[in-house]
Amino acid sequence: MKIRNKIRPYLKNSEAMTLLEVGCGTGLIGLEFASLFQRTLLLDGSSDMIACVQEKLKDSALAGNVEALVLDFEQERLSETFDVVLVVQVLLHIQDSREMLARLYDSLKPGGRLILVDYTRNNAVKSALIHPGFDVGVLLDELKNTGFSASECVVLSDLREPLMGLPTPLFLICAER
Ligand SMILES: C[S@@+](CC[C@H](N)C(=O)[O-])C[C@H]1O[C@@H](n2cnc3c(N)ncnc32)[C@H](O)[C@@H]1O
Repeated sequence: MKIRNKIRPYLKNSEAMTLLEVGCGTGLIGLEFASLFQRTLLLDGSSDMIACVQEKLKDSALAGNVEALVLDFEQERLSETFDVVLVVQVLLHIQDSREMLARLYDSLKPGGRLILVDYTRNNAVKSALIHPGFDVGVLLDELKNTGFSASECVVLSDLREPLMGLPTPLFLICAER
């Protein structure tokens, strides 16, 4: 089952809401959901990724309410806050995940929801560049310490994706500000 199908149930009644996707890549996930929201901002640190999103938006009915921006979320701050913030397979690339969680918290409106999808911890993965996945218990504690209230976590045992070539289950966390 695709990641998008796992996320969809968390995006109900969103017609009047705003969506931010951090680390949108080529827009595979965010563009799929943009029509469910009043407005969507897709951002990525890579100008190549955003060029790809902009190409997809050309002549698209979504172009009017979707914006795509090159922005390094670890370095720059947004002035706007959002109802839903989506972060899919990005946290593993971020050195300081606690600081990242704080920045994600600051990007949400009160009552807004963070939807975080990433790899569960795989101790066989050895890399200086990426995290070896995450211990979801530790991550849930970090979210609580950051100020998030209710957090729901599902380990997607049927979604094993390669992490440095090693099939590793993903998790989905939905946390409320
Ligand atoms: C594995 S891709 C996932 C793309 C997309 N979320 C998806 O699931 O299809 C990770 C993306 O995060 C972006 N990224 C990594 N660090 C970032 C940062 N500090 N700020 C913004 N984007 C970042 C990368 O450029 C890359 O496009």
